Amino acid sequence: MMPKTVLITGASSGIGRALALEYAKGGAKVALVARRRELLDAVAEEVRALGGEPLVLPADVTKSETVHKAVCDAIVAFGGLDLVIANAGVGGTKHVKDTSWAFSEQMIDANVNGAIATLLAAVPHMVARGSGQLVGVSSIAGLRALPNSAVYSASKAALSTFLEATRIDLRSSGVKVTDIQPGFVTTPATDKNNFKMPFKWPVEKAATVIVKRLQRAPSVIAFPWPLVTALRIARLLPDAVYDRLVGAADPRGL
Ligand SMILES: NC(=O)c1ccc[n+]([C@@H]2O[C@H](COP(=O)([O-])OP(=O)(O)OC[C@H]3O[C@@H](n4cnc5c(N)ncnc54)[C@H](OP(=O)(O)O)[C@@H]3O)[C@@H](O)[C@H]2O)c1
Repeated sequence: MMPKTVLITGASSGIGRALALEYAKGGAKVALVARRRELLDAVAEEVRALGGEPLVLPADVTKSETVHKAVCDAIVAFGGLDLVIANAGVGGTKHVKDTSWAFSEQMIDANVNGAIATLLAAVPHMVARGSGQLVGVSSIAGLRALPNSAVYSASKAALSTFLEATRIDLRSSGVKVTDIQPGFVTTPATDKNNFKMPFKWPVEKAATVIVKRLQRAPSVIAFPWPLVTALRIARLLPDAVYDRLVGAADPRGL
């Protein structure tokens, strides 16, 4: 069933914006959360033009009290939330020798703590209603560590594990939990990458597929299948074999 009330973090750009527009086409009320207000206002106009009802809620997900307030404000304004998508996050590759604590801290704060703060804020409301959907956008980079991605891969693996544990805890509550694991998608984040991104999807395709599959509330939505299959097989490989394969694909290791 299509949700009537949705909250999306990271709605000012990329995947979050595309998801907001997709839900707007179904006439949903869509709460838009991110830091850049002017971009959120522009997305709100697009949501309205497509038949949705936007609510702009500027918030930094790394400030837990701010994102908690945004979720509560959306619940009050919409009379409830059917779906919360913790999508806000930051990317970036770095060799571990060039990785500073500041880089790591801001990435973990946004990708792990920000997502957890968003979802935890919605749990009591959904559990009390006995319905709803909690969704996190992790990455296929969390399936097995990728080169030059120590912090990013760790952040996405942490989010995937949080979502899995949440799904288990809420299994009898009526609340569904889904982990979205995208491969490469064309967004301002990946526009910065200067390496090959195999099987990269346009953001509109990613949003259409996510919205369609979320209606069945599976535990995981992962795409594209060739990359997902390769990484799932890679999980079964012994470390020595995996290290050699990854090393051959990326010769920058020391
Ligand atoms: N694109 C890909 O290939 C890909 C693949 C796998 C996973 N993902 C994941 O998909 C999600 C969306 O990424 P994207 O590619 O769409 O990137 P993007 O275009 O850069 O969008 C990132 C969004 O996150 C928001 N955000 C970042 N830090 C925030 C914070 N502290 N508080 C609130 N909002 C914050 C940004 O908004 P403001 O700057 O306005 O706050 C922006 O709306 C991320 O979690 C990313 O890791 C992307």
